[in-house]
Amino acid sequence: MELQRRHLLAAASAASLAAIAARAAAQAAYPTKPITVIVPFAAGGPTDALARVLCQKMSEILGQQLIVENVGGAGGTIGVNKVAKAANDGYTLLFAHMGTLAVNIALYKSLPYDSQKDFEPIGLGGTNPMVLVAKKDLPAKSFAEFQDYVKANQKKVQYGMAGIGAASHLGGLMLNSMMKVDVLEIPYKGTGPALNDLVSGQFDYMVDQAVNVLGQIRSGNIKALGVSTLKRLPQLPDVPTIDEAGLKGYEVTIWNGFFGPKGMSKDNIAKINDALVKAMADAAVSKRLTELAVDLPTKEESTPDALRGQLKASIDKWVPAVKAAGVKPE
Ligand code: MLT
Repeated sequence: MELQRRHLLAAASAASLAAIAARAAAQAAYPTKPITVIVPFAAGGPTDALARVLCQKMSEILGQQLIVENVGGAGGTIGVNKVAKAANDGYTLLFAHMGTLAVNIALYKSLPYDSQKDFEPIGLGGTNPMVLVAKKDLPAKSFAEFQDYVKANQKKVQYGMAGIGAASHLGGLMLNSMMKVDVLEIPYKGTGPALNDLVSGQFDYMVDQAVNVLGQIRSGNIKALGVSTLKRLPQLPDVPTIDEAGLKGYEVTIWNGFFGPKGMSKDNIAKINDALVKAMADAAVSKRLTELAVDLPTKEESTPDALRGQLKASIDKWVPAVKAAGVKPE
């Protein structure tokens, strides 16, 4: 009896040792298959563009494909929620910005996820200035003329955005609230499709991340009337800041980052973070992103903890600011 019990105990501990060894081997080898990176907006927009540049380099570094999947709609909340509910084995990640993770807390009565509790921050993937862009035949050549035009044509003027809680929503709602205008809102699944419609003149203006609009501004298909930072952008030296052009204190920049579902292992987080940091340090990647006005993080700003702090700081800053702007949650 005693011998049988000892055999059983020995077999059980061998099995658990084998399981621990298998888990350790899987962790050491991670990733052993392609990783899905959910971008919660349509293809062809700023979040998508930034994710694709980074994921391509990170795939080379990790030796496994990081495949971008666009899950747009509801201001990014559908895609973000998909990652909140995904397995935390490191094979489903999120690339999202502070709109969908911080600002929208003020804009929805209830969200299906808690951005601070349901995710593991992995690393910051760049911060973007925004640009106020208008259709090219809007009868305004300067920010002052734009403001007069919008004020005179309220209820008729249309601005585009990528849904409640999107970056373009934040940029637009702060602008409209500071200009004290009430205009029509046209929602899209991302500012990629919105930009196509702005180029063809189907609505009047939007505030979008520079990475998405610089090309169309340079081609003369839309006009830039102001930038959202307190300093002018080297990429658009003739375009004034919205602050200097008349709306004192207007300042919005958008950070983007990688997150995993809650409980993703520290080792796997460290591997993705390492690949991200190496990708951003790559000369060709950093040149390309700098040309697109993307501000890349320093080493200290690149850690998972720094991203956790960034998320909290954005919630603390923007939730009261959006409430103060008088926007009612949906
Ligand atoms: C936004 O407005 O939040 C983004 O521009 C969405 C996108 O990436 O299309």
